[in-house]
Amino acid sequence: MAGLTAIFLAGPVLTQTDPGTASGEEEEAIPFALPQSGPFTPAEIEIDNDQAISDWFRSSHANAASDAFSHWDDDGEIRAACATCHSGEGFRDFHGLDGTPAGVVDGPINVGGVVDCGTCHNAGLADITEITFPSGLVHPVTGVEASCLTCHQGRSAGIDVAEATSGLADDEPNSELRFINPHYATAAATWLGGYGAAGYHYDGQDYSGRFFHARPVASCNSCHEPHTLEVEFEPCLTCHLADRPEDIRIARQSYDGSGDTSVGISSDIERNADTLLGMIRDYSDEVVGAPVIYDGTRFPYFFSDANGDGVIDTAEGSPVAYQSWTPRSLRTAFNWKLVTADPGNYAHNPQYSLELLYDSIMDLSAPLGIDMEDLQLLR
Ligand code: HEC
Ligand code: HEC
Ligand code: HEC
Ligand code: HEC
Ligand code: HEC
Repeated sequence: MAGLTAIFLAGPVLTQTDPGTASGEEEEAIPFALPQSGPFTPAEIEIDNDQAISDWFRSSHANAASDAFSHWDDDGEIRAACATCHSGEGFRDFHGLDGTPAGVVDGPINVGGVVDCGTCHNAGLADITEITFPSGLVHPVTGVEASCLTCHQGRSAGIDVAEATSGLADDEPNSELRFINPHYATAAATWLGGYGAAGYHYDGQDYSGRFFHARPVASCNSCHEPHTLEVEFEPCLTCHLADRPEDIRIARQSYDGSGDTSVGISSDIERNADTLLGMIRDYSDEVVGAPVIYDGTRFPYFFSDANGDGVIDTAEGSPVAYQSWTPRSLRTAFNWKLVTADPGNYAHNPQYSLELLYDSIMDLSAPLGIDMEDLQLLR
């Protein structure tokens, strides 16, 4: 109460009560303070950081209603394994910015958190010098990059697929195998390319490393406004000629066999991704004999269609997850999902995206009896 009184006293006080002696009646005329000079209407009041706040507020980082921030509401707290990236509080806990040990979420982490200001504006970020990726890569960072790279790195990598399928015959379905999901918005994983090793890498193949691009666009925030999160397209036009980011192309050859170089490189990636998904279906159907259906709106995305009628099987009203993975279909589906889960793949690392797709297509071409020459793809 004494503390409150102190606040009320700041300014010319119209009605002052003594908290020690206040009677009920006096308390009703509870004190409020009027500043000596204006502004007196909300519109006249300048709020510090107004622009940053309103930009951020409209971004998906602030969208408390999205699944990414409300998924745990019914549980009452966010699980430690999820909290690092699904709440500012969890992020600070993981990095030890809240005074607890770094590298672990000690929890419990409250529901309702978003990527708040203190996730990126935090003096402690300066002390974070490296970020560990799901592949095991430890990547050096400076400043706010530590935040983006923590949350946009995905949750699994090609090594997890290699481990799960180790020692198994390539084309033998194994009901123990489950789809391995790279997770979502995995921009940083794509960006670091072969060096980051997010994808399933094939023996004997080289993979392009981090996409250094060009100096003015070498970091997350040089392309993304950090509050709106939108890509600032104007600056791209200093070096590129295009109407939209998706239309940008430097490559003079076609990667998808279409021969069309009038479209953005995003188109080659998209077409090869479509080819790959088609081959995963054909392979499951013709080679494994257990048709699969992909539904991007429902985890775990790949479902069973045992009778091949094009409709997802259900058991007790729920869709049946695909359970006839072979090492070959699992690793190609992983690479497909990794590339397509990043809507900015063409800007984050076009070469690496194309390489993962090409190698996965080649992997499936053998059992399907498809001649790679006929597809006319470029790696
Ligand atoms: C390394 C950081 C990270 C971790 C750890 C993490 N997530 Fe996520 N997750 C993300 C990001 C980033 C997104 C945002 C994707 C988007 O919507 O653009 C996301 C999105 C989601 C979504 C929304 C999916 C959709 O389709 O939009 C769900 C559900 C989710 N995560 C569940 C989980 C669960 C459950 C865990 C813990 C077992 C977890 N996440 C751990 C980074 C992470
Ligand atoms: C995802 C990370 C992130 C979040 C969340 C974030 N900021 Fe920022 N903010 C940045 C970065 C990065 C810069 C530096 C921009 C630059 O150098 O151009 C910045 C710059 C600023 C600036 C300097 C002026 C400007 O707009 O560039 C202000 C003020 C600011 N932020 C306030 C806020 C406030 C208030 C919030 C919460 C409502 C917030 N920020 C949330 C990353 C973030
Ligand atoms: C604490 C974890 C966290 C940090 C730190 C973080 N993000 Fe995010 N980011 C997320 C989640 C979660 C989502 C998805 C939110 C949703 O679905 O509403 C997201 C969404 C995005 C999006 C997608 C916007 C859209 O329209 O869907 C972009 C772009 C993005 N973040 C860029 C960045 C950049 C750049 C940084 C660093 C300056 C950063 N993020 C830092 C967790 C994080
Ligand atoms: C060369 C510019 C560039 C750089 C550098 C860059 N991005 Fe992007 N990013 C894009 C483009 C272009 C898109 C796709 C267009 C869009 O979604 O707005 C995109 C999309 C995204 C998305 C998905 C947005 C959505 O709609 O779901 C996320 C998340 C993201 N970027 C995060 C990052 C992070 C984190 C970094 C740093 C590791 C980064 N980006 C670096 C250009 C860039
Ligand atoms: C300073 C010049 C410069 C700016 C600014 C720039 N780029 Fe680039 N961009 C390049 C160069 C150079 C390459 C080729 C890099 C390479 O292949 O190593 C490239 C390649 C690309 C590619 C791959 C094209 C292909 O065919 O492989 C995409 C996509 C791209 N840039 C998107 C963007 C976006 C989106 C922006 C703005 C956010 C942007 N760039 C800003 C110089 C620039």
